[in-house]
Amino acid sequence: VRIYVPRDAAALALGAEKVAKAIAQEIAARGLDVEIVRNGSRGMFWLEPLVEVEVAGKRIGYGPVKAGDVSVLFDAGIVNGGDHPLCLGEVEDLPFLKEQTRLTFARCGVIDPLSLADYEAHGGLAGLRRAVSMASADVVKEVTDSGLRGRGGAGFPTGVKWKTVLDASGDRKYIVCNADEGDSGTFADRMIMEGDPFVLIEGMAIAGLATGATKGFVYTRSEYPHAIAAMTAAIGIARQAGILGPSVLGSGRAFDMEVRTGAGAYVCGEETALLNSLEGKRGIVRAKPPLPAHKGLFDCPTVINNVISLASVPVIMEKGAAFYRDFGMGRSRGTIPLQIAGNIKYGGLYETGFGLSLGDIVDRIGGGTATGRPVKAVQVGGPLGAYFPRALFDTPFDYEAFAAKDGLIGHAGIVVFDDTADMLKQARFAMEFCAVESCGKCTPCRIGSTRGVETVDKIAQGIEPEKNRVLLADLCNTMKFGSLCALGGFTPYPVVSAMTHFPEDFSPAPIVEAAE
Ligand code: NAI
Ligand code: SF4
Repeated sequence: VRIYVPRDAAALALGAEKVAKAIAQEIAARGLDVEIVRNGSRGMFWLEPLVEVEVAGKRIGYGPVKAGDVSVLFDAGIVNGGDHPLCLGEVEDLPFLKEQTRLTFARCGVIDPLSLADYEAHGGLAGLRRAVSMASADVVKEVTDSGLRGRGGAGFPTGVKWKTVLDASGDRKYIVCNADEGDSGTFADRMIMEGDPFVLIEGMAIAGLATGATKGFVYTRSEYPHAIAAMTAAIGIARQAGILGPSVLGSGRAFDMEVRTGAGAYVCGEETALLNSLEGKRGIVRAKPPLPAHKGLFDCPTVINNVISLASVPVIMEKGAAFYRDFGMGRSRGTIPLQIAGNIKYGGLYETGFGLSLGDIVDRIGGGTATGRPVKAVQVGGPLGAYFPRALFDTPFDYEAFAAKDGLIGHAGIVVFDDTADMLKQARFAMEFCAVESCGKCTPCRIGSTRGVETVDKIAQGIEPEKNRVLLADLCNTMKFGSLCALGGFTPYPVVSAMTHFPEDFSPAPIVEAAE
């Protein structure tokens, strides 16, 4: 019998370690022949710690389990899938999971993240094996044909980026994985690194073979200790198994990789600041051009892709471009791991083809707010994403559809707010965030964000509100078009959307003079 207890950071934060210990004690005390497997998370956070028992090939779930529940669960016959109020039935049948299309996250929460045997038994390495047998240009073509676009947020076609690096001349080329996941409400990169690290290794090795790069770096944040540990251990296992090293899967072509940790600056998720940080320099933004694809890490041609972009490549190589591009809508092909967070009943990771409406995601899948109050706004795409009111809930989750409504899907973080949210405060937060995180290289962002905080404060205090609203809109325009990178350039999205959709929050009640 196998009992699965997640070691994903979200599950650990909710007490999974104590639960695992209590289960181990119970097994020992009862002399049972049961193996505990520490898996990743399925991404249903309201059920974590989610304990699963494998019974006759099925996974029966119990959750959320507290350490104090364990003894009673064993009394109820958990090892045989016994009934108990915490029993959820077969995990794969839970609607939140069943209705997903899990391609990138197919193994996440299912397997032991550090078992290569588990990984291969669930389809792992099939994509890399195919890539090894192909010419580089054909691998690039397959990825291009799949329609995969950058999942970090910008949505640039991954195959086009790879082709630029393949065609660039250089003795050395690099694959850099941007795992500096910094957007509010996002956790997809972390979940993959902790729950299925081999899929990222496989994706990076394929990228190496496709572009002629022989070295890869995963740049992640120090706040992700469990992801760092899982990635580092998985890289060691992959190296020993000949997946990484001088001859990838015996192909005679080299690719190796390592993990590097940043000190925790939001701007280091911007690709050129990330490169500076990786080179040991201060994390400030470089002007583009030159593009990193031409002149990136140590001035060599470099692919920089987000974790999810790279982790989506193995399934594309395994099942083919046509299979992948069959999911989605318009120019947004394949699947996207939605990260549903904030004030929401059912928060978690939901991988699905592009095209679900925002309302469907928030109301049906997420179950509305956790507080039970009406949804007021949803911020999509991180702290630099726009706030969408309920009136825009029919917007389909698609790069172009969101852009058409002056928003962005970004890294697919969805943060929900109920009707107690004050959108003026949220606009102030955006400007303040930009002021704190600005790398200081360009004026609109460095100075503009601080002036932005002051201007929002004046509106809040009722000081010449009309004049200051116009000034704030003008400042946003300057920041949007005058900033060097997305941090200053996108800060106007939350500010302007808050002003546009929630004008009442920007019209403070006139100060009533106390009667004499
Ligand atoms: P961008 O549009 O400037 O570039 C996108 C990517 O395409 C870059 O890697 C760029 O080097 C590459 N590229 C552009 N033209 C190319 C060409 N002709 N050949 C080869 N490669 C080319 O966008 P940027 O500034 O890299 O990213 C902005 C996005 O980052 C925003 O949309 C935002 O959503 C997202 N973001 C994500 C965060 C996260 O935590 N995942 C945090 C903050 C922002
Ligand atoms: Fe730096 Fe801000 Fe300018 Fe980006 S927009 S380069 S973070 S100062």
